[in-house]
Amino acid sequence: MIQRLLRAGFAVAALIGLSSVAQAEPVDFVGADACKKCHTAEYEVWEGTPHHSSFKEIHKNKKAKGILKAIGEKRMKRSETCATCHYSYIDGKAKAGPSCESCHSPAQEWLETHNDKKNPNNITDAIAKGMIHSTMIYDIASNCMSCHGLANPKLPGDTAATMLDNDHPLNPNWELVEYSQGVVRHRFYPPNVTENQEMTDAQKSVYYLVGQAAALVSATEAISKTDHAKYTEAQNVRIAKAKSTLEMVAGKVPEAAALLAAPTHENGRAFGEAIRGKDFTGEVGSLLPTSYK
Ligand code: HEC
Ligand code: HEC
Ligand code: HEC
Ligand code: HEC
Repeated sequence: MIQRLLRAGFAVAALIGLSSVAQAEPVDFVGADACKKCHTAEYEVWEGTPHHSSFKEIHKNKKAKGILKAIGEKRMKRSETCATCHYSYIDGKAKAGPSCESCHSPAQEWLETHNDKKNPNNITDAIAKGMIHSTMIYDIASNCMSCHGLANPKLPGDTAATMLDNDHPLNPNWELVEYSQGVVRHRFYPPNVTENQEMTDAQKSVYYLVGQAAALVSATEAISKTDHAKYTEAQNVRIAKAKSTLEMVAGKVPEAAALLAAPTHENGRAFGEAIRGKDFTGEVGSLLPTSYK
């Protein structure tokens, strides 16, 4: 018994050690080229987005120099702070902008598993190894929010504050439907795998809600990072908007009420599961955007 406890203690210590290393260095990706041969259509969509083009441009942006100087760094492509959101690391170097694995999670562990045709549980096994599948709508939204809400847990509060003081953007009204249904959209689902399908309004209403759920959790987590006025103000805007939206469905969806009472990833995920495949155009239809980024 004591031995088991000791071993568990060591395992925890090892994990803590590992996670602090992982925090210091961006996680390696296999890279979008490793997805291209099987997911050509999705790759071509990605090539047409600012996520792709920013790699050649963002470090030349006028603001980049000032931001870097203020946090005591020199080159954007060498900065682990910037890499958290701006780059895909392959073999320890920034090799692309945000890419497949920024949204679907680093694939090293799940790549072989997810398309293993001999395994009837290929997708559930890949998900267990960290894959973010299109059905995991809360996790997808949560990923967008951590970058676009300047809320990544790895980003220290004082760094976020310095970035804002030096004109780094933070749009508190960043909304999932508006940003996911324009250039970024890739929906080549069967039976029409050659057609990049538009969402129905019902599907958009679900995305709208799950986006607000993810914004609520992300902003609630992030707001205590720093007491920098601009940062907390932006996070408060995200929280207020998300709450008022989720309240519109709280009577109908108990998971929304639970999430409002306790904004955690677990409750966000349960909310995403509860609303997936349903129709909330009656509640939030009038809020849906009519043009997309
Ligand atoms: C050798 C071919 C192959 C490669 C390489 C490959 N995939 Fe896949 N991928 C598949 C197949 C086949 C499926 C469908 C599996 C199924 O549903 O049983 C799939 C499914 C997926 C899905 C789930 C679709 C959904 O509805 O969400 C995602 C996401 C995905 N792949 C991402 C990637 C990413 C990211 C990479 C590169 C890191 C990659 N794949 C590399 C063949 C491949
Ligand atoms: C937590 C995520 C995150 C981190 C960390 C981050 N950025 Fe950004 N950055 C973004 C997002 C998201 C955008 C796009 C915002 C938009 O268009 O509204 C952006 C945009 C920019 C822009 C474009 C500004 C403009 O007005 O066009 C510059 C320059 C920039 N970042 C520099 C940096 C530098 C330098 C670092 C590292 C010190 C850094 N960023 C770290 C998320 C981040
Ligand atoms: C900005 C985040 C983001 C990036 C980058 C991204 N995806 Fe996706 N991906 C999503 C979202 C969101 C969905 C769910 C779409 C839906 O169901 O509406 C999705 C769905 C998919 C699907 C299932 C739908 C389909 O088209 O078959 C596959 C496969 C996939 N992604 C693969 C990729 C690959 C490969 C790349 C890189 C070339 C990539 N994704 C880049 C967010 C992203
Ligand atoms: C790893 C961080 C990261 C993740 C995750 C991420 N993005 Fe981005 N995104 C960025 C950065 C950085 C930019 C700015 C690129 C530039 O303009 O140079 C950006 C730009 C964009 C743009 C272009 C905005 C414009 O004004 O033209 C869209 C659209 C977008 N992201 C949508 C999404 C969506 C939808 C998701 C989730 C499904 C997502 N992003 C996930 C980092 C991220």
